Amino acid sequence: MHEFVGEWHSMTMDLFSRHTSPELLQEKLGPGSVILRDFALADVVALLAAVESILAKAPFRHMVTPGGFEMSVAMSNCGSYGWVTDRTGYRYDALDPLSGQPWPGMPDVFRVLAANAAAQAGYNDFSPDACLLNRYESGARMSLHQDKNEKDFSQPIVSVSLGVSAMFLFGGFKRADKPAHVPLNHGDVVVWGGSDRMRYHGVLPVKQAHHSLLGSRRINLTFRKAS
Ligand code: SIN
Ligand code: FE2
Repeated sequence: MHEFVGEWHSMTMDLFSRHTSPELLQEKLGPGSVILRDFALADVVALLAAVESILAKAPFRHMVTPGGFEMSVAMSNCGSYGWVTDRTGYRYDALDPLSGQPWPGMPDVFRVLAANAAAQAGYNDFSPDACLLNRYESGARMSLHQDKNEKDFSQPIVSVSLGVSAMFLFGGFKRADKPAHVPLNHGDVVVWGGSDRMRYHGVLPVKQAHHSLLGSRRINLTFRKAS
């Protein structure tokens, strides 16, 4: 199945396909997945203001995996549920373990952007109840994994990239399947669901670089329906 990704990937790397509107750059990654280039650009100022207000209540922190390793990516969450990991496992929790309080609510600008991106990718009525905020400093990475702590795999995943560029890995259904390498830049949105929902994915170590709004950082917002 990952051959399909590789095939599409090589077909689309230098050949952009424009669908539905002349402004929209859409690159098909697989039967249920698409990159929407620049899709979040118009909302960046509002998104970053919302990120700041979330972080004031729920700051970025480096969580620990069940195996005892500190993640290089720092994380926070907003919405009804937040994704957390500690020595007892991976899960969604309605409370921030740092504060003991509910996670900050999901800002409208987040919810609307995620729903619009999902609809653009063919998933109508996406209503995320969880948004994971990932902060990558240079060298931070995310190893290949599947998103599988959610209850309903019929709902897609929407991933928004801000700041420094990164190389996203979009693989197959086994960890060992060779992933496609997809550069993601400030403002790009990736949506995957349907038959691609359980694909392994990850991020190569982020290179030292400077972004005018975020300095050396990459911030990724990952929207999911957890419950
Ligand atoms: C994730 O899989 O949670 C993060 C993906 C990304 O940072 O692009
Ligand atoms: Fe993920």
